[in-house]
Amino acid sequence: MAYYDKKYCIVTYGCQMNIHESEKLGGILAEMGFTAVNDVKLADIVVFNTCCIRENAEKRAEGNIGALKKLKHAKSDMIIAVGGCMTQQKGYAEKLTDKFPFVDIVFGTHNLEDFKDFIVRRLEDKKHVISVSDGDNRIKEGTPKLRSSFPNGWVNVNYGCNNFCSYCIVPYVRGREKSRDMGAILSECQELVDAGYKEITLLGQNVNSYGKDLGNADFADLIEKVSAIEGDFRLRFMTNHPKDLSEKLIAAVAKSDKTCKSIHLPVQAGSNRILKLMNRHYTREDYLKEVELLRKYMPDIAISTDIMVGFPTETESDFEDTLDLVRQVKFAGAFTFVYSPRKGTPAATMDGQIPSEISKRRIIRLIDMQNAENRRQSKAYLNRTIEILCEGFDSRKGKYLGRDTYGRMAYFDGKTNLIGKFVKVKITKTGGISLMGEVADIGE
Ligand code: 5AD
Ligand code: SF4
Repeated sequence: MAYYDKKYCIVTYGCQMNIHESEKLGGILAEMGFTAVNDVKLADIVVFNTCCIRENAEKRAEGNIGALKKLKHAKSDMIIAVGGCMTQQKGYAEKLTDKFPFVDIVFGTHNLEDFKDFIVRRLEDKKHVISVSDGDNRIKEGTPKLRSSFPNGWVNVNYGCNNFCSYCIVPYVRGREKSRDMGAILSECQELVDAGYKEITLLGQNVNSYGKDLGNADFADLIEKVSAIEGDFRLRFMTNHPKDLSEKLIAAVAKSDKTCKSIHLPVQAGSNRILKLMNRHYTREDYLKEVELLRKYMPDIAISTDIMVGFPTETESDFEDTLDLVRQVKFAGAFTFVYSPRKGTPAATMDGQIPSEISKRRIIRLIDMQNAENRRQSKAYLNRTIEILCEGFDSRKGKYLGRDTYGRMAYFDGKTNLIGKFVKVKITKTGGISLMGEVADIGE
């Protein structure tokens, strides 16, 4: 049975976890003989790998699914599949098929590994496939991957989340925390290094709680083991929960030459009252102590964060606490969000929802403050020569780009293909968060 003449296009929304899962969907389709294309109009199979963390992520995906109606009408044998976090929400699959009856396959976050069967069923039985399961405790190994982020390779370490922050939909759509077997993680890392990958990013909703369900290892042990793999590569990990950041892990990161000196540590808010309502299990004082400890071990570590404004009942004074924390920590970067009510989460039904005009005003003040810090930190790079791992080519800017150990992005010209090389770049111009420079030396 050959479907070799078919082309597929995967449209991905959301976080790194989804980007990596799209690499698995691509791996499954490539193994079946399909070819990837970048344009949905050229595709016989379009897969939407969706996100539901905020309402706008859902709106965008629904808008793009809806936009395919005409194309599907003109090309009836086209297959449209929708999966990911959005479809895993309770009752959503029915809602989706009511709204977009032309969608052929609906699958969830727990059965992506069965995607080949869904495609075969759709092609052979010509029936719609709706399969969203609740998942179990097992991790399915061995799914093929068509990696798309060379020289960076994503490696899952744990799945799911047990934290139930009161605003967050993730625990409902990703299930409970499950750690992957350490041996499987290490052999995947070794394979990546053998294949010439220069950066490994360990992935999980909460990587620093890795191993809690295994009982014989923790994330610090894993960092140590991955760092012991021989080869010229960098190690990163994301994302972390402040309540699970141990001194042992900080020490392991500090000791490891391979691990980048940067950490993403979402704080969410600077007000203790709001942190409590968010069910975050730490105070601003706890967070500031962690920052201090991180800097004690690694004085130059870059700490980045996620911050939310407009959580229910947030007052001007709560928000000032957030600004004050941002002022104190001097983050190397911050992803900022307006709180978005998610159906089924405790926060969605709390009294005191904040009007969007107020949240918008707050987020602008927060972004302005962080932008000023970004500019200040970027300026300190001027005339310095830094080591960058070249990650890609930005065709719009006509320049290569890559990051230093602190995660700071730099753009530069190159006469030869520099992707996957460590290059020394002299910084000649700084703007907002990113840097412009000239190549001073090309490594091997
Ligand atoms: N509204 C806005 N932002 C949210 N996040 C998670 N849930 C919500 C929500 N309901 C943010 C958090 C998290 C990041 C990945 O997304 O800041 O760290
Ligand atoms: Fe969501 Fe909190 Fe889990 Fe992060 S730790 S995925 S914010 S519930």
